[in-house]
Amino acid sequence: MKKPLFIVLEGGEGSGKTTQAQLLKQELEKITDQNILLTREPGGLKECEQIRDIIMGYDLNFQTEALLFAASRASLVDQVIKPALKKQDIVICDRYFYSSVVYQGIVRGLGAEKIMQINEWATDFLYPDRVYFFDIKPNDALLRLDEKAREINRFDQEKIDFHQQVYDGYKTVLNEVDFARNIDATLNVDIVTQLIIEDLKMSYFE
Ligand code: TYD
Repeated sequence: MKKPLFIVLEGGEGSGKTTQAQLLKQELEKITDQNILLTREPGGLKECEQIRDIIMGYDLNFQTEALLFAASRASLVDQVIKPALKKQDIVICDRYFYSSVVYQGIVRGLGAEKIMQINEWATDFLYPDRVYFFDIKPNDALLRLDEKAREINRFDQEKIDFHQQVYDGYKTVLNEVDFARNIDATLNVDIVTQLIIEDLKMSYFE
């Protein structure tokens, strides 16, 4: 029987979640005939792209940044994610509100609970079924980033202690989430995909 499934991938810079999102989609297509939607903020929505341009282009105060991330997410959920789940699709989302809870709530110091409340409201309490945390220490992750090949954004340029705070923040936040799973992101990419597929087979497809 088809049922909707909402998967979220979370992790710091260079943790490999974006590559993994593609691979996961390909592997899921082999085991299900459900439609699989791969999305990430801004998700192709024009208004979200404009919000993202503001976030990336200005030196914003932290509250503004947090609200803009939540605003963009509200549109993505309403116009892309919810309609897909309604059609019994599988949705894979590269980052979701746990990113805001960690980056804005913990690292920027706005408060994890406050940021969670704002985002619960913005997303109409749409929680994922599974969150995978791509667990790799910031030093190792940043080494993997190829400076020339990727889009440099102002978040990447933060110092290593920022990335360490992100890592520690994820560990704290996701430790409390019973549908979150830790994935060893230092492993070979194909093995990482298989670990996720195995988990989904046990918890969802069986
Ligand atoms: P993104 O474009 O998703 O880059 P990547 O996932 O490849 O690192 O995110 C850009 C930056 O924005 C990233 O450093 C994390 C940060 N971010 C937040 O601070 N809060 C959020 O809610 C989101 C979604 C991202």
